[in-house]
Amino acid sequence: MSTRGPKLAASMMCADALAMEPDLRALERAGIEYLHIDMMDGHFVPNIAMGVDLVRQIQSGTSIPLDVHLMVTNPEFWVPKVLEDLSPAIVAFHHEAAPHGVRLAQTIRARGVLAGVAINPGTAVSALDALLPEVDLVLVMTVNPGYAGQRIVKSAVAKIGELSERRARLGLPLLIQVDGNVSFESAPEMVALGADILVGGSSLFRKDVGIEEAARQLRVRSA
Ligand code: DX5
Ligand code: ZN
Repeated sequence: MSTRGPKLAASMMCADALAMEPDLRALERAGIEYLHIDMMDGHFVPNIAMGVDLVRQIQSGTSIPLDVHLMVTNPEFWVPKVLEDLSPAIVAFHHEAAPHGVRLAQTIRARGVLAGVAINPGTAVSALDALLPEVDLVLVMTVNPGYAGQRIVKSAVAKIGELSERRARLGLPLLIQVDGNVSFESAPEMVALGADILVGGSSLFRKDVGIEEAARQLRVRSA
């Protein structure tokens, strides 16, 4: 487990669905800090992924804490459900789907879970002004959510720096998480701008070098 540099969250939709257990063991050996769980409803994003039953099974097979990213149109339903059925460390809902974001954050925090709010590449940091003091984490999407393996949206990367400046100015203990084409090439800039948690998808679940070596390189390059 690293003591400096960003924490790594492994995006489990990129794990080998036919051999998830070996992937979990490799993630444990690599000291991965969170399992990033992409729950997609086919409405908020044009894809369906990772239902509660599958995630419960994954949870029972490891002690790595869960970081749940809800890409759903109705987080009012899914936040309580995830809190009830799973034992996550982080739950993030999308700002674009949440007119009552403060209430959702309160629901999450009331369970002793870190409350996160995610923003799409097309959403400005300023949209979160009222919400920032009410959450523990902001998840900056650097691709349009829905699929792994997409090209980075460059303009979204700059929002990490903007958020970092805001949390310093406001004195907030906010964590900044980045999700979407986090790679050996993109990670150093993300961390330099202020990212605390990097979500590793295609760049972490590498069949060629393997998960452990990919994690090691991500850490070395972003330390
Ligand atoms: C995309 C998901 C990501 C995805 C990342 O909508 O939220 O977590 O798995 O995959 P890469 O790192 O390949 O962009
Ligand atoms: Zn995600």
